[in-house]
Amino acid sequence: MKIALVTGGTRGIGSGISRALKESGYLVVANYNKDIDTAEKFHEETEISVFSWDVSDYDSCVRGVGEVRDALGGDVDVLVNNAGITRDSMFHKMDPTDWHRVIGTNLTSVFNMCRVVIPTMREKKFGRIINMSSVNGLKGQVGQTNYSAAKAGILGFTKALALESASKGITVNAIAPGYISTDMTDTIRDDIKEKIIGGIPVGRFGKIDEIAHAVLYLADERASYVTGTTLNINGGQYL
Ligand code: CAA
Repeated sequence: MKIALVTGGTRGIGSGISRALKESGYLVVANYNKDIDTAEKFHEETEISVFSWDVSDYDSCVRGVGEVRDALGGDVDVLVNNAGITRDSMFHKMDPTDWHRVIGTNLTSVFNMCRVVIPTMREKKFGRIINMSSVNGLKGQVGQTNYSAAKAGILGFTKALALESASKGITVNAIAPGYISTDMTDTIRDDIKEKIIGGIPVGRFGKIDEIAHAVLYLADERASYVTGTTLNINGGQYL
């Protein structure tokens, strides 16, 4: 049974991805940071193992992945770098802390997690790495210089690591979701939400399952010829 690890895997899009992978026969591990109540509830509902560590910190990732290996007796085959936060504000008002937090959690985390799992994937000559970018990493968004920079950074990272890994049976791809209905998008002010929906050809926010389905495709052994690419799932927004 292949082992799939989903960062930020107990809430929002991550929770949908974890559930979909489990239903497809993977042995799934969901990472979370601090929200233990949500993680325990998720575990009770799904029986998916949950492990806590901070993906923005390299040493915590080494420890966390080590704990997963000890508990499951195997190495990660599929890594979904999904953990992400927003700290939106107009740039002229942005606190440096909110810059560093978003870059740390959304981009440095991808380095950290890939750096920890890639040696065993190279040994096994198999791996699937799926990085969550965003429509706003491709087109920018008012109030999101930090988030857009992190999500655009993921795209360059994905292409470079894909080149390095192609001969080792490891694919590295990105998914760029548009606006998906989750806690994260619930906090957007209603007037701004309306403006955003006005710019989406399909005329609505996306659903978590519409992202999880794409993860299943990229994780599959049969997707071995797809690497270094970005799958845009955004209701038809022109980029
Ligand atoms: N498009 C165009 N203009 C916009 C805009 C948008 N989406 N959002 C805000 N603006 C404009 C406002 O109309 C305003 O213009 P004026 O100065 O000419 O009046 C200007 O930008 C400043 O906006 P606010 O008055 O709202 O400023 P604020 O300081 O009160 O709030 C903010 C700033 C918190 C960033 C708020 O604008 C906001 O929440 N924006 C939405 C940010 C957003 O879309 N976040 C996505 C979160 S979900 C996510 O990130 C998931 C994903 O991957 C898609």
